[in-house]
Amino acid sequence: MTTTARLHIDVHLPADHAQRALRADVIAGLSERPRTLPPKWFYDKVGSDLFTEITRLPEYYPTRAEREILQQRADAIAFHTGAATVIELGSGSSEKTRLLLDALTRNGTLRRYVPVDVSADALTDAANSLFGDYPNLTVHGVVADFTEHLHLLPDSPGPRLMVFLGGTIGNLEPTERAAFLRGMRDSLRPGDHLLLGTDLVKSPSVLVPAYDDAAGVTARFNRNVLAVINRELDADFDVDAFEHVAIWDDREQWIEMRLRARGPQNVYIADLDLRVALADGEEIRTEISAKFTPDRVRAELGTAGLGVRHWWTDTAGRFALSLSGR
Ligand code: SAH
Ligand code: TRP
Repeated sequence: MTTTARLHIDVHLPADHAQRALRADVIAGLSERPRTLPPKWFYDKVGSDLFTEITRLPEYYPTRAEREILQQRADAIAFHTGAATVIELGSGSSEKTRLLLDALTRNGTLRRYVPVDVSADALTDAANSLFGDYPNLTVHGVVADFTEHLHLLPDSPGPRLMVFLGGTIGNLEPTERAAFLRGMRDSLRPGDHLLLGTDLVKSPSVLVPAYDDAAGVTARFNRNVLAVINRELDADFDVDAFEHVAIWDDREQWIEMRLRARGPQNVYIADLDLRVALADGEEIRTEISAKFTPDRVRAELGTAGLGVRHWWTDTAGRFALSLSGR
């Protein structure tokens, strides 16, 4: 643990996490058909910076829509929750969260912020800058995988507000998502709340460009996962030989991101002594981003034992924030 009086950072990922967990994920994902790579490996330093760039793209509306809701509703959220602690999963740069922290500070209840992220770089930058800007706040950052380590979160003063923003819930597979919602519910106590950001189903003519922008930033972000594997596992992916693909799957109601081989690719992953031969045009699935109807959000939260108390959207109706409790 790194600690000064008001700033702590706990690291629950072993130093060789990137090595060990990535190895297992790469072996499993590249051996199955269709081939897959799990999304949490996008977010090294380069990837986290590229994601920040994505949030500023004209085509990528979710961040602006969610920020608009927070601007309008943060005081109501502070009033309804009276939170003393904000626990944020996948906090990234914690930029939008400041709207909540400000409202809870005005509300007079806020004492502690617990950002949780698998990216130590993003978390450290965010924690340091918040520490400077909120002189009465204790910042207790946790470097961890939120799909595995919810039980390791520090005990903190209640009432607690758990927040999961950015539509990141849509990046989990449906079965994983159900288990995760249940896990979040189990880590709440009576009087605590969950604030969940969900992107809503809309026309593919809006959805697809959000994941395939004209400037090619999302393409660079997607391809960066190959650079992570090259660096961490001593592999030789020709990163530029893969084309970024984003498609709307209407049956599953999700955007699927893939990397498509331009010409046959023979890859050697030295640390795994693994050879992977990809045919011309063969694809690796790297990410899903599920979109929701309001009914579906309510139903899935309900199944996890969470009741929706408030439902807010941006004025254009693109994105929703729900406030629920157990
Ligand atoms: N909440 C921010 C960032 C969203 S990007 C926003 O709304 O803009 C998703 C964030 O979740 C990244 O910072 C990434 O590092 C983190 N993340 C992805 N998978 C994770 C996992 N399994 N455990 C912990 N953090 C994860
Ligand atoms: N949570 C974000 C989303 O689903 C993550 C994201 C945005 C993303 N653009 C991406 C992930 C491109 C992979 C590739 O909207």
